[in-house]
Amino acid sequence: MAARSHAYFAICPRGLEPALVAELQALGAAEARAESGGVAFAGSPEVGYAANLHSRLASRILRQVARRGYANEQHLYDATQEVRWHDLMTSQQTLRVDVTAARASLRSLEFAMLRIKDGIVDRMRTLAGDRPSIDRNNPGVRVFAYLDERTVTLYVDLSGEPLFKRGWRADKGEAPLKENLAAGLLALSGWTPEVPLLDPFCGSGTIVIEAATIATRRAPGLNRSFAFERLADFEPAVWRRLLERGRAAVDDSATALIAGSDISTRVIEQARTNAGVAGVGTLLADGRLRLQASDARTVEPPAERGVIVCNPPYGEQSAPRSSSVPKMMGEVGDHLKTAFAGWQAWFLTSDRQLPRQMRLAETRKPVLYNGALECRFFRFELVGGRYRPRAIS
Ligand SMILES: C[S@@+](CC[C@H](N)C(=O)[O-])C[C@H]1O[C@@H](n2cnc3c(N)ncnc32)[C@H](O)[C@@H]1O
Repeated sequence: MAARSHAYFAICPRGLEPALVAELQALGAAEARAESGGVAFAGSPEVGYAANLHSRLASRILRQVARRGYANEQHLYDATQEVRWHDLMTSQQTLRVDVTAARASLRSLEFAMLRIKDGIVDRMRTLAGDRPSIDRNNPGVRVFAYLDERTVTLYVDLSGEPLFKRGWRADKGEAPLKENLAAGLLALSGWTPEVPLLDPFCGSGTIVIEAATIATRRAPGLNRSFAFERLADFEPAVWRRLLERGRAAVDDSATALIAGSDISTRVIEQARTNAGVAGVGTLLADGRLRLQASDARTVEPPAERGVIVCNPPYGEQSAPRSSSVPKMMGEVGDHLKTAFAGWQAWFLTSDRQLPRQMRLAETRKPVLYNGALECRFFRFELVGGRYRPRAIS
């Protein structure tokens, strides 16, 4: 019998959609299509589980359960009546409904949410004889409704906790990147585990820990649970098989050289703790993962050639008190030009003046969003010698 096919939507930070298409295709997704803020795709239940277990770039995986045109709130209620909710949940489970709208003409999203919630509850009462109760804090099942001008799409959440929560972060450090954005930076930089990597502003270690788990082939979701495990149509045998394959794939023999440094000894200690919890303590112990306190203005290259991937402090975030960030970044630029000739460097920042401050000319600058903050991911080729600053448009 052919496996059932579902339509899915994977949410991701804006700017990572094309990379997420490629990642999902490699996991067996069909019809993957980039949209703003995510990727629509199709596949069996196994593909949906695999996306949760393996995707490094997605924040959440949703499974579509209904889609129809609407013109008023009653149509939203009607959309809920097309779904066999009792195949997804029991009335003993709790429910939460969230509504997101883009260009929707309805007066109140709160009212839209209530109509959808009422529709689900009424339908469950009719089909199962009882209704689920609502729990906004710790729901058993979460339904997302997306409204555009004319269409409502209902999804059931498969992830639960967002996927960027890998389960290792004890303490947040200063302005940490989300783990899926860190993975996105590595993907966009083209870094592969054979190439030495340095993050000279590593903070809590997000980029280097993500890199170490990539190098050791640790699926990002190996040590956490997912909302799909609570759905009534969960297929435990399929999930167990995927998990076993994921566990068997872990390979600590990776030859990698991954270095992270930060001016703060306190955050370096945090990064070391985080690395241990993330399961890459062996690499830390034998020096394949190096985490050291060091100033980016004087940091030593860990290898002759390699890639720098980082997000330095920028205006919106706290900065070292002793010097202003632009001045410091000028000094970092001078140091990189002399000590890191032959390296390629990628800097994520919301400060468009960064190349000017560092007196480096970028060779690429894709747009990425760090939360709501529009950023550029500047690429610099460090060829040594003196650079002339280039006018930035
Ligand atoms: C935006 S945070 C990086 C966050 C990191 N990517 C994470 O996910 O935790 C910037 C970091 O740069 C560090 N920093 C500031 N000035 C520095 C310098 N001169 N050299 C090295 N690190 C510095 C701060 O201590 C802070 O941890």
